[in-house]
Amino acid sequence: MAQAVYLQTYGCQMNERDSEEILGMLVAQGYAVVEREEEADVILLNTCSVRAHAEERAFGKMGLMQKLKRERPGLVLGILGCMAKAQREEVFRRLPQVDLVAGPAEIYDLPELLAGVAERRQQGRLGASARVLAIDRKVRPLDRRPATDYRAGGITAFVTIMEGCDKKCAYCIVPTTRGQEVSRPLEEILDEIQQLARAGYRQVTLLGQNVNSYGKRFPDGTGWVGPGRRRALLQLGDRPEAAVADAPRLVDFPALLRAVDAKTSIERVRFTTSHPFDAHGELFRAMAECRSVCEYLHLPVQSGSDRILRAMRRGYTAESYLEQIAHLRALVPHVALSTDIIVGFPGETEADFEATQALMDRVRYDSAFVFKYSPRPGTEAAGWIDDVPQTVKERRNQAILELQARISREQLETWVGREVEVLVEERNRRGQLMGKSRRNTTVVVDGPDPLIGELVLARVARVTDTTLICDVVDRAPLAG
Ligand code: 5AD
Ligand code: SF4
Repeated sequence: MAQAVYLQTYGCQMNERDSEEILGMLVAQGYAVVEREEEADVILLNTCSVRAHAEERAFGKMGLMQKLKRERPGLVLGILGCMAKAQREEVFRRLPQVDLVAGPAEIYDLPELLAGVAERRQQGRLGASARVLAIDRKVRPLDRRPATDYRAGGITAFVTIMEGCDKKCAYCIVPTTRGQEVSRPLEEILDEIQQLARAGYRQVTLLGQNVNSYGKRFPDGTGWVGPGRRRALLQLGDRPEAAVADAPRLVDFPALLRAVDAKTSIERVRFTTSHPFDAHGELFRAMAECRSVCEYLHLPVQSGSDRILRAMRRGYTAESYLEQIAHLRALVPHVALSTDIIVGFPGETEADFEATQALMDRVRYDSAFVFKYSPRPGTEAAGWIDDVPQTVKERRNQAILELQARISREQLETWVGREVEVLVEERNRRGQLMGKSRRNTTVVVDGPDPLIGELVLARVARVTDTTLICDVVDRAPLAG
């Protein structure tokens, strides 16, 4: 009988996409995917390490799964992803029933790793001697990507364009867990997107830890790591044809956006995440000139204090960040902006925190994600005293949430009476049709089920704190 696999995903969109690839491989091997742990022969958690809380959730969940294993010793338990890489053997110490620990760079080995667990059991090996630990790769072997896939939905899709992170932000565990940056070849990405468009998908979100590093290094060792190449590549900017035809190995992220826009028929393109350090004018120009690229940029600032930004090793100042935003807004009017903010970074004073609030007041983001600083063992900042008391972190967190809620509401209200393009995605539990505007705002429209999966034009009748309530104006495909 087919083995049944249950997979739960924690963390970012890259992890969600990795989970789709994992299930694609396992289904191709004959596994059946189940929605309930009780029905599974193999339980996998694809984990996140970005904050201690994310790890504790996965540890807690796997703790419960160990109880299932006591009743059914044949059950296979696996911890995958960033926590596997960050915690290594510690996972086995805290969760002795776990059979497999495999890092983000090892996901393509999963069928063999699971076969390894089965083989050890057949040999009668038990407990610690049956365990498999696979965490040593420094780079994900993207040239071994499986051809099989397993995507949810049918309207919007994630497309990973690069993996890893070469930055060294002092607080961040990601460069350790995800390894060195490596990009997928341009032609492969274009093929995947065109296949999705042909299959009826309307939107892709291009994913990478830092998409602006796209093209720096390909699996075959080519790429633009080196200053001279950078200049050649900037000249490619307006000529996606050249990027594809003459210099497929000399392509950067703006050129990728232009190529996706010119060479595929996907209607909407989003991307995440952009590090402000290497988001430059060429990116903003590509956003302005490519019809399919949505007017939305997630550009995490983390702090508005230069002192803290320096300690974080972010490579920009509040002023240079604001200049970038002004440049972007000049080229892409009405662009929506979102950010990540960390409160309570080591040494953050009340004045530093006020500088963050002041920056938010100046940028007026459409939305913001706020995180309380959480020391991650192995990062540079983990060696510094975590000196902002928890109560102060909580208060600053709350203050940011309230500030952003006020700004978000004010921003939304300016849209009343205006028209927005909506991709209708689903009917929610309250029976309303839900979708997203190009600016990534949640939209509710009135209408029949066949609108799901359609792009419609809608007029904003009123707003709630987070949502535009709209009337459909036009169902016809949009011009231009
Ligand atoms: N503590 C708190 N927040 C963190 N982030 C990354 N590392 C940490 C940490 N150690 C936040 C950053 C990043 C987002 C994905 O998570 O804001 O942009
Ligand atoms: Fe972390 Fe910085 Fe890399 Fe983002 S760019 S994942 S914040 S190290």
